[in-house]
Amino acid sequence: MRVALAGKGGAGKTTVSATLCRLLARAGTQVVAIDGDSNPNLALALGIDRERSAGAPFLPPSLVSRRLVGGPSLTEPVAEVVARHGLAGPDGVRLVLMGEPGHSSEGCLCSAHATVSALMGDLGEEPDTVTVIDMEASPEHMSRGTTRNADLLVLVTEPYYRSLEAVRRIARLADELPIPRVGVLANKVRDATGARAVSEFCARHHLEQLGEVPWSEEVVQADLAGTPLLDAAPDGPAVTAISRLACTIREAAHATAAAPAAQGG
Ligand SMILES: Nc1ncnc2c1ncn2[C@@H]1O[C@H](COP(=O)(O)OP(=O)(O)O)[C@@H](O)[C@H]1O
Ligand SMILES: [Mg+2]
Repeated sequence: MRVALAGKGGAGKTTVSATLCRLLARAGTQVVAIDGDSNPNLALALGIDRERSAGAPFLPPSLVSRRLVGGPSLTEPVAEVVARHGLAGPDGVRLVLMGEPGHSSEGCLCSAHATVSALMGDLGEEPDTVTVIDMEASPEHMSRGTTRNADLLVLVTEPYYRSLEAVRRIARLADELPIPRVGVLANKVRDATGARAVSEFCARHHLEQLGEVPWSEEVVQADLAGTPLLDAAPDGPAVTAISRLACTIREAAHATAAAPAAQGG
């Protein structure tokens, strides 16, 4: 099962992705986290210290073979790629980094996007693994089709117009790929008015609402201290809300894994 998180900058994608990965891993799921942002932050949010993540290798573009049919795929078995290029994180999460520009004026990141797309494609063959990809704010990952292999797209939004507008645009692109399940996660919800704004938006655009994470001072404090939310406030309201999303994803992953067997039998 492959889950992509997208949305406007600052909506909370990285905070939610990191917490989700570790909660899934604690519940016994094998988790591969992919930092799909060319300005990577997921390692820190997971709790991998800067020295280790700064020296981590990016996915080399030489791993991709471009097929005429079915899009890019990896030239090596996906388990080996994750074992070799992944960083070990807390709770057994394995983190793979897409890559960032090494220098200014270096040019585009086409090959980095293609490598992630191939990795996502091949991870679909691993029934016991949940892959979580934390995307950058730009909708480029949709227009390039980097997330075309996602089974679930979680659109993280704050309850204000421009954040919801970003979600609407990304949802439209997701429809074209198409991504089979697209849902909205409201984050930083302060009151009933904000909660209602997101629910009404979802109803108007026929989007599934996947949950609601309250605005929480604990999240702000954890971030300021450079501590993963799950370590700073494991019993707080934000982690509780994200653990509900983790349950939804585990249920969907079990249903996906069971489906071929049911069809075959
Ligand atoms: N539920 C929340 N309550 C309060 N602050 C939050 C919440 N979720 C995220 N934040 C804060 O919002 C900022 C942006 O979060 P981040 O996860 O980096 O967003 P993104 O990855 O979407 O750009 C961070 O300072 C983070 O601590
Ligand atoms: Mg981010």
